[in-house]
Amino acid sequence: MKNKQSHAAHKIGRKNKNRARKKAQKPRQKTQTKTAHWLVDEKKPNAKIIAQAGALIRNGKLVAFPTETVYGLGANALDAHAVKKIFEAKGRPSDNPVIVHIAKYGHINKIAKKIPHAAKILAKKFWPGPLTIVVPKKSVVPNSVTGGLSTVAVRMPDHPVALALLRAANVPIAAPSANRSTKPSPTRARHVLEDLNGRIDGVLDAGPARIGVESTVVAIEDDRLVVLRPGGLAIEELEKAGFVVELDAGQLRKDAAPKSPGMKYRHYAPEATVALFARGFPEHKMRALVKKEQKDKKRVAILSMRDWNIENAVQKKYANAEQMARELFDDFRTLDQLKTDRILIEHAPATGLGLAVNNRAKKAAQN
Ligand code: TXA
Ligand code: MG
Repeated sequence: MKNKQSHAAHKIGRKNKNRARKKAQKPRQKTQTKTAHWLVDEKKPNAKIIAQAGALIRNGKLVAFPTETVYGLGANALDAHAVKKIFEAKGRPSDNPVIVHIAKYGHINKIAKKIPHAAKILAKKFWPGPLTIVVPKKSVVPNSVTGGLSTVAVRMPDHPVALALLRAANVPIAAPSANRSTKPSPTRARHVLEDLNGRIDGVLDAGPARIGVESTVVAIEDDRLVVLRPGGLAIEELEKAGFVVELDAGQLRKDAAPKSPGMKYRHYAPEATVALFARGFPEHKMRALVKKEQKDKKRVAILSMRDWNIENAVQKKYANAEQMARELFDDFRTLDQLKTDRILIEHAPATGLGLAVNNRAKKAAQN
């Protein structure tokens, strides 16, 4: 009996081996998708490529595209199944809603049930641009887009390729940043491919993003603006436009739950651990810290807006908050490739884009 069994098992084993061999000859697993990489001229994107990418979106596929902030991972916002694929490709928690992109102000009517007066003023002044406005949603917007919320976040990106894609697709496009969940947002097509090659249908590559941090997300409460996520549009700009602006309590205090669900997750994180320092942190203390890390055989990098007279640490000095915003996520990825263990970041001044930079650095530090 024992023998027979082992004989049979041997036979089955052979069969399986043959099957395995056949499988191995197949170039790709079923779950893998060939990701097209289309180079396009930002100013004059190739019409054929844009039409092709637009048709893919309309037909429920995933296409990553450049915006002025970061690269987005787009799907037809009115197709619940397509939107679900975004979450799968990113490995993103399903209660974290995504932003819907439109090409023309009038298209907001397709997805918003009510448009508060303040939203009209904001859109007129800041669109296309790095501002996302949260408004009550229409029922055509699937719950998978909004994570079950009754509101939808809308923005018109300021990038010729994004706008051309939106026009070609002829549907609103749901698009979170095109990174794997917990990785830094992609500011180049290369970053998208590092994270999502084989998981999405294509990426439109128009070079590095101009701003480098994601849009500012605002909710409208009476006539006040509540900033749910500081981003590419400075709060001062909103104030200059005559609005009373406040930061969501979740941004300020640890005990308050943030209203923007995405803000509660670990985010923008490099592999290295990140530590933050107040502006003007004394050099001798920084030197001692670096020394201690190096004693433990750790590779250290310092990112800041000043020079440090410290040896043996990788250092980058940004000229201003704009440069830091534009390059921070790319620098995180480069430092990972350099096998950096610890990234020490000195805060940017808490004005203009500095607010967004400090917010992203803080998220990266929440390991
Ligand atoms: O610049 C950007 O905003 C980029 C580009 C691609 O447009 N997109 C982006 O998307 O950063 P994502 O999904 O990575 O971030 C969207 C943020 C999250 O913090 C999310 O929680 C918040 O917006 N959000 C989306 N819908 C919301 C809603 N209905 N209410 C409150 N927050 C919302
Ligand atoms: Mg994101």
